[in-house]
Amino acid sequence: MWNRFERWCRLRLSKHPRLRAVASVVRRQLLPSRWGALASRHWDDRVGDVEAGRQRGWLDWPLVEEEHVRPQISGDPKVYYLEYFFERHVKNRPVDHILSLGCGGGNLERALVEIGATRQVDGFDVSPESIRLANQLAAESGLGDQLNYEVADIDQIELPVNRYDVVIAKMALHHLENLEHIYHQVKRSLKPGGVLMINEFVGPSRFQWTDLQLRLMNELLEALPEKPRKAAPFLRVLRPELEDMKTLDPSESVRSADVIPVLEQSFEIIDFKPYGGTLLHILLSHVMPGFDLEDEKDLSILRLMFLFEQTLVEQKVLPSDFAFVVARPLTS
Ligand SMILES: C[S@@+](CC[C@H](N)C(=O)[O-])C[C@H]1O[C@@H](n2cnc3c(N)ncnc32)[C@H](O)[C@@H]1O
Repeated sequence: MWNRFERWCRLRLSKHPRLRAVASVVRRQLLPSRWGALASRHWDDRVGDVEAGRQRGWLDWPLVEEEHVRPQISGDPKVYYLEYFFERHVKNRPVDHILSLGCGGGNLERALVEIGATRQVDGFDVSPESIRLANQLAAESGLGDQLNYEVADIDQIELPVNRYDVVIAKMALHHLENLEHIYHQVKRSLKPGGVLMINEFVGPSRFQWTDLQLRLMNELLEALPEKPRKAAPFLRVLRPELEDMKTLDPSESVRSADVIPVLEQSFEIIDFKPYGGTLLHILLSHVMPGFDLEDEKDLSILRLMFLFEQTLVEQKVLPSDFAFVVARPLTS
């Protein structure tokens, strides 16, 4: 209940920056312990909605996935990143053992077994409710023997040496702080020839959007037809206050801007596919329900938005906030 109340306040008040600032101060004065507890329960409370498809971010819309993301990763709207990864980088399938970092409710690990990529997957997550749900869904799918889930804080994790053929982190590394330690652990846990694959938010830490990013997001928002524009629970996209970010979910994009630079200290990147999100992540996560995906004009607007972002990223006017990356340990 507290999470829903907090979310309602955040969304409604974002239309009124002054009220929001006052509410933020009042909240910190009156409810510090309650707010701290909310942050630690963040993922326990959300995982059910994520697995049931009730929580929709920009990547959960098939149109975005097929017409914006897949063409930039695999080059083919029909080829999903997982299929592309195994086809391109893992020749002998199924492999024996994959590790999934920050597995949540387990959608990735079930898919890995279902596509015949591996015999066994270990999935670790700090949220006990996520691990409970992942175990339940694995059993319901008849995959319980191949999927092993454990509650673990990956920031502190000690991994077995020489255990995994592939390590995967999907939308998880940007929630982790101790990146140097984690990459060291992943490096030693990979078998010779093993690779790390990440599909991640790598944009500004703590969502501290750049001025250009904010300007373009807001100009795009203003240019939208009324229905999608009004679907957004805000009039303008704002750079979030650091305190708000820390209280809502202390792990959210905690060192996202460091995910790639720190990786490069101990891994060689062998495939790097930036796929944007710099403007469309925040916008589409909110305005998509206002578009009529059966309407040619609405589809054209969305396709122009895809083209606009992709061109700005390709021409290096904007960095890419999301990336698919495959890397192998440096030998030195
Ligand atoms: C955005 S969700 C991604 C979940 C899953 N990989 C997916 O794509 O559906 C981020 C996940 O990271 C987990 N997480 C955050 N901090 C963590 C930590 N320190 N150790 C382990 N897991 C963590 C959260 O509990 C959550 O399940």
